[in-house]
Amino acid sequence: MSDSIQDVTRDLARFVRQQQEEGVEWYLDEGEPTVSAPVVVPPAEQATVHPAAVPAESAPPVDAAKTRRENEFRQHCELFVASTLALIEQNDPPDADATVPQTREQKATSLAEVAAEVAVCEACKLHPTRTRTVFGVGDPDANLVFIGEAPGRNEDEQGEPFVGRAGKLLTDILKAIGFDRDDVYICNILKCRPPENRDPEADEVRECEPYLKRQLAIIEPKVICCLGRHAAMTLLQTKASLKSMRETVHFYEGVPVMATFHPAALLRNPNWKKDTWDDVRKLKALHDALNIK
Ligand code: URA
Ligand code: URA
Repeated sequence: MSDSIQDVTRDLARFVRQQQEEGVEWYLDEGEPTVSAPVVVPPAEQATVHPAAVPAESAPPVDAAKTRRENEFRQHCELFVASTLALIEQNDPPDADATVPQTREQKATSLAEVAAEVAVCEACKLHPTRTRTVFGVGDPDANLVFIGEAPGRNEDEQGEPFVGRAGKLLTDILKAIGFDRDDVYICNILKCRPPENRDPEADEVRECEPYLKRQLAIIEPKVICCLGRHAAMTLLQTKASLKSMRETVHFYEGVPVMATFHPAALLRNPNWKKDTWDDVRKLKALHDALNIK
């Protein structure tokens, strides 16, 4: 295994300690590791509020099982990064496409053109009930893109993805791996809110997906993270369970794709936060490894 991957996971471990010292601990507030045995979280605990409010000293004591789990995770993470880098080499040999790279400003302009089309889109049955279209936010030249399902009520009102309760949790998740919202790009499969937040329907996905494809083609991310089963199913064209999709890396047009829980699902099931924490640490390690190459 190359030194660089070990550097990445070591940096990540150091970074995580810093985050813990700063009390950025959304992933510690409820539930316990689900690796060895699933832990049943009593309903009273599930109701507790925001993790960042939990002072560092109230974190559970570091015990032997926890240390062992962390060591296992670190090995798993190193292996994941190394095998993904190998797959990337196979999938996408360097210089495979000779397109002229766009600057951040050019990408911003190109995205704004697509957003203008989306703003007046009437391709599916969602347009009459929307308040605003929700195109996407963040760095037009982001290395990392997060894809959710569809706008909810708050997003529909504000025209920005992930601004409600789930969005606040996403912002905390990003912070825990060292990113501000502006450092990444955040968007959804659907650009309009389905009534009563029902699941996206096939015809809506079919009409809207070309916009997502164009967004991704402009941004050219190095890694994509799908939030929840719907985003992953749509992007990867599979009906697999989220559990199985979380287990391996996938590829979309040569770009590695990881899937993790939707933050709204985490609000309903806080005991999935531990697994999400593992997923996003792997995502961060892969991101860093790709950017040091
Ligand atoms: N849920 C999503 O999938 N996307 C949003 O933008 C907000 C909530
Ligand atoms: N099932 C889903 O569809 N999404 C999640 O995030 C978790 C379970």
